[in-house]
Amino acid sequence: FPGAGAWIPEQPSVESLAAGVRECRGCDLFERATQAVPGRGAARARLMLVGEQPGDQEDQQGKPFVGPAGHLLVDAVEQAGLQRQDLYITNVVKHFRWSELRGKRRIHQNPTRAHVAACGPWLMGELDVVRPEGVVLLGGTAGKAVYGTGFRVGEARGTLASWPAEVAGMRPETHVPDWVLPTAHPSAVLRSQERDRDFELLVADLRVAAQALS
Ligand code: URA
Ligand code: SF4
Repeated sequence: FPGAGAWIPEQPSVESLAAGVRECRGCDLFERATQAVPGRGAARARLMLVGEQPGDQEDQQGKPFVGPAGHLLVDAVEQAGLQRQDLYITNVVKHFRWSELRGKRRIHQNPTRAHVAACGPWLMGELDVVRPEGVVLLGGTAGKAVYGTGFRVGEARGTLASWPAEVAGMRPETHVPDWVLPTAHPSAVLRSQERDRDFELLVADLRVAAQALS
């Protein structure tokens, strides 16, 4: 894929990045998606939450985390004591990848590494304009986008880490957050056999992020 680079605005702002994402043809995912889903939230948020890609609901509404996983995430964020005005929420891939229709619902398919790499410049642009103190990586795809294929949620979650020296799509001037907190993806909590326990673990991880905010 050519990647998103050619669509990145010259004067990035939260608004111009969102407009650029809607025009992007940097990989094949725009073809089957309803629309792009740019990040959303406070323009100077202290914390950036990074998910995988929009789901069925997000694809229809054009906003991140507005479906079932989003509701669970909002509950967890509130229980962890994080404030809305401190948050900017986005995904490593901005278009919905799906395999087939089951009833009315389209079935989510993981983005490939090539999709994540193609879309990387958008996340780097978001980091540059929002300049968050901390980044929360929700699940394996977000974790791998930053730390590479060796990343494992189970090993990394709940512990503050530093942003690596090199991340695909990063430029020398890219804003580097002070810390990164990997945790589970809210969709994994939704699917879990032990949902209550896993929800509490997600809240506990988000509290680590809340406390790390200076
Ligand atoms: N899952 C994600 O990773 N992101 C969304 O926006 C919705 C569900
Ligand atoms: Fe562009 Fe990302 Fe959408 Fe691909 S998924 S078309 S790189 S915005």
